[in-house]
Amino acid sequence: MTTPSSGAPNGTIVLAYSGGLDTSALVPWLKEKYGYDVVCCLVDIGRVKDIPGVMARAEAAGAIAAEAIDAKEEFAEHHCLPALMANALYEDKYPLSTAIGRPLIAKKLVETAHKYGAVAVAHGCTGKGNDQVRIDIGVRALDPSLKIIAPAREADWPSREVLLDYVAEHDIPVNLTKKSPYSIDENMWGRSNECGVLEDPWVAPPEDAFQFVKSVDDAPDEPQTVVVSFEKGKPVALDGVPMGMVELIEKIDAIGNTHGFGRVDMIENRLVGIKSREVYEVAGSLALIRAHQAMEDLVLTRDLLHFKKTIESKLADMIYEGQWFDPLTEACQAFLFQSQLRVTGDVRLKFHKGSCVVDGRKSDLSLYSYKLATYTDEDEFSHTAAEGFIELWGLPIEVWAKVGKAHHLMKELELEDEAATV
Ligand code: ARG
Repeated sequence: MTTPSSGAPNGTIVLAYSGGLDTSALVPWLKEKYGYDVVCCLVDIGRVKDIPGVMARAEAAGAIAAEAIDAKEEFAEHHCLPALMANALYEDKYPLSTAIGRPLIAKKLVETAHKYGAVAVAHGCTGKGNDQVRIDIGVRALDPSLKIIAPAREADWPSREVLLDYVAEHDIPVNLTKKSPYSIDENMWGRSNECGVLEDPWVAPPEDAFQFVKSVDDAPDEPQTVVVSFEKGKPVALDGVPMGMVELIEKIDAIGNTHGFGRVDMIENRLVGIKSREVYEVAGSLALIRAHQAMEDLVLTRDLLHFKKTIESKLADMIYEGQWFDPLTEACQAFLFQSQLRVTGDVRLKFHKGSCVVDGRKSDLSLYSYKLATYTDEDEFSHTAAEGFIELWGLPIEVWAKVGKAHHLMKELELEDEAATV
């Protein structure tokens, strides 16, 4: 499909559009400085407010077309779910909500570029963050012929104050009456917040840095439990009520938010070499990861659990570092899906005053055997077999020790001998 064009010298560009100050300023900017007709593309992966308002703003800013793409289902099934199966946490804390969103935004930009016969895509990322890496590499992986324009990482990109004047001159109605000091990115897997006072790692995050997770002080005194049911690693029901991933994520997120669970305040190591401080609101993703890990603990073997951890942490790094479309990511995901075939059963989570704990788990495929674990007289574990097992298990160490002693290589023993002769 081609779109009515005003005949810009360089053709059409598709802009990843959020409706905020920067991407709104980018519409006339790309036209005036780069000579493109601009198609705005808003990718909804959860928590997008006022889509008609954002679309109207895109057109007011001079876009030749504006598209809102509902990608919630695709995001939940193909991005949140693999991240959950990987229990993916960057640096053991951050569930990668922004990071798993960017490759899907890149994909939708490419699809929209094809739809409109565009020659380039644009985004509003600065040169300092991880997101530019994720979007650029995503676009290059999917269509290397597309040019990528990112004016916010060019030297002539104006300051926020100048940008405000620029959008006012262009009659773009940007909603900035209450100037937020923060830089925010959000989707159904979490909300990321940086800048403003958060840039001082010693300053405690003020209450206004959080929008969803209640403060523990305001959380109810009564705990709340919820049962998450999994089928092959996928959460499929809450308290026995079957539901799709999108609804399930939103529901469990809301429970966590109410109980003050899911605030993360961390210093993280960015791909571009700097440390940054970010606060996250990730109640739903963290709670699901906790439940999913508990399910795996019950049904997977020790070796599979332990080995899976290396894949999990590799995958978390790959996702963080913009390598979503790398063949290694795909191979890790193949391992993950294989590992999930028996991850079926129920986990009970208890939310209370800022915490979320697993307090029960069950599965028809459970490897936990009461008769093997119990210390009562129902015990069927073979205690006598333990002796022979330990004899062979400890054999290599025993041989090592005998040889070492014969050659006076046993440091610990020699120290003892010296002490005895003093
Ligand atoms: N630091 C996170 C990441 O790299 C989030 C980045 C976006 N954050 C933001 N507040 N705009 O995945």
